[in-house]
Amino acid sequence: MSEEDNKPNINETIIKLEGLSKRFGYGDATSYALKNFDLEVKRGEFIMIMGPSGCGKTTLLNIIGLLDTASAGTYFLNDEPVNRIPARRQARLRAKKIGFIFQNFNLIPNLSIIENVALPLVYSGYHKTRRLIKASEALARFNMKEKEYYLPFQLSGGQQQRAAIARAIVAHPEIILADEPTGNLDSRSSLVVMEELQRIHSEGNTIIMVTHNPNLTHYATRVIYMLDGSIDKDIKTVKDSDLPVPVERKTPKKIFKSRKKSAKKSKKRSKK
Ligand SMILES: Nc1ncnc2c1ncn2[C@@H]1O[C@H](COP(=O)(O)OP(=O)(O)O)[C@@H](O)[C@H]1O
Ligand SMILES: [Mg+2]
Repeated sequence: MSEEDNKPNINETIIKLEGLSKRFGYGDATSYALKNFDLEVKRGEFIMIMGPSGCGKTTLLNIIGLLDTASAGTYFLNDEPVNRIPARRQARLRAKKIGFIFQNFNLIPNLSIIENVALPLVYSGYHKTRRLIKASEALARFNMKEKEYYLPFQLSGGQQQRAAIARAIVAHPEIILADEPTGNLDSRSSLVVMEELQRIHSEGNTIIMVTHNPNLTHYATRVIYMLDGSIDKDIKTVKDSDLPVPVERKTPKKIFKSRKKSAKKSKKRSKK
């Protein structure tokens, strides 16, 4: 290992979008949800995206979250062009690197809270018991441990969203995407959720959040105003050099590089 590998790469670019467009419809009915969209996201940014309904915010988050693909342009995730990544590896990357928080919580109704939170760990390689322990630990961080065995409908909106945040962070993703996470919450629950997101951010996580609420922008290190599928204004309120440093350094690139080696090793092991 070279010395380079040991240096914390604080200002690493983790997302880069170049000339991204998303087209819907054909011919006369063609419309663009995103138009020639450029964006560079550094590790540790807390970006809030604002803009009128229909300006492309959700489309943007879905593309960044590998739930949707662009019609044109290039999306680099950790310097790798996403369109060259096969679908199966994309699904794995999504589970490992990206945590989602939605406006309507999106908890699976017939699974207990702890089972919901454990879901993203399916790709982790942990045994089920270990996954449930991790989920329980995540819930404890949000004072939700006593609700583990409840079903989602038995919880208030604010509690459901805290469970959804626990689910979003349980696999220690590099990027947390939140689409109007406080949109269905009263102001008290919104505050709790925002404080939790702020705590997650201060631990060095990267967050991209869509919101309609201008009162929340003070939590962000950067606010992007969108209009008709493009960036209208882009305001950084914190210098890149002042962004929070990851609590524990993750080295995702190396993990993926070493995947083949460890796969070979485990094959060898299973042959023995
Ligand atoms: N699946 C789709 N088919 C056709 N048009 C779509 C689809 N998804 C989004 N759009 C259009 O793309 C534009 C941006 O949508 P969206 O990203 O949901 O905006 P926002 O989240 O900012 O409200 C809107 O005009 C919307 O109607
Ligand atoms: Mg939307």
